Amino acid sequence: MRATLSYAGRTAHPRAQPVPVRVGGFGGAEGLVAWLCAEQVSCVVDATHPFAAQMSANAVAAAERAGVPLVALTRPPWRAGAGDRWTPVADLEAAVAALDGPPRRVMLALGRLHVERFAARPQHDYLLRFVDAPERAPSLPQHRLVIDRGPFTVAGDRRLLEAHRTELIICKNAGGEGAAAKLAAARALGVPVLMIDRPALPERRTCDSVAAVLHWLDHATDRGV
Ligand SMILES: NC(=O)c1ccc[n+]([C@@H]2O[C@H](COP(=O)([O-])OP(=O)(O)OC[C@H]3O[C@@H](n4cnc5c(N)ncnc54)[C@H](OP(=O)(O)O)[C@@H]3O)[C@@H](O)[C@H]2O)c1
Repeated sequence: MRATLSYAGRTAHPRAQPVPVRVGGFGGAEGLVAWLCAEQVSCVVDATHPFAAQMSANAVAAAERAGVPLVALTRPPWRAGAGDRWTPVADLEAAVAALDGPPRRVMLALGRLHVERFAARPQHDYLLRFVDAPERAPSLPQHRLVIDRGPFTVAGDRRLLEAHRTELIICKNAGGEGAAAKLAAARALGVPVLMIDRPALPERRTCDSVAAVLHWLDHATDRGV
């Protein structure tokens, strides 16, 4: 099978990959239809992050219009367990609204594109962790910036939370292993978490493992679609 991996282009130096990579937006669902047709794509696998709602919606719409079968690789959301002190919030806006109290030391585990929204709550001292150094300093009056792309460990995240004396973590309910270390560290230290719920995504066929996606691809190819 020939595969192409598509990146939005948010990360300056993405990890090397074993398949050809293209980078940048397609130009909405319409642009994606054109790309699927030009490249004679026979299957689409939506392996985006659970919060990439726009891309997932575009992928469903474009695959349908281009007559190409689509499957989404998904993972279950994290669930609070014993010792977790989580407060669910519906979205980023609700997380910002929840920070209207006195100054706290807050870890924003959100990615570069979303932290600017917290400038509306300048009283807090923020801990930010980005994959790349930003071109412009974040407009949060009090912040500490850590550049690290992981993988993160529970011991490392615990040290980070302790060094910053973090009193609250704000994160998205991404699910999976990659970003879960901070939650285990928060549990160990008794640090509360504002957990942002996932956005609504369109109805689509889903698989919860890479093996299941590969199996689906084999069958999609068998059927000649
Ligand atoms: N949101 C998160 O928390 C998060 C976390 C980790 C990784 N990511 C990854 O970062 C990328 C961007 O996330 P986002 O939340 O900004 O997406 P988004 O809001 O759903 O998408 C915004 C636009 O970015 C372009 N885009 C997104 N993913 C793309 C891809 N894989 N290939 C080509 N173009 C893509 C599309 O532009 P056009 O309309 O021009 O095609 C899309 O309309 C996604 O691939 C996602 O998997 C996101």
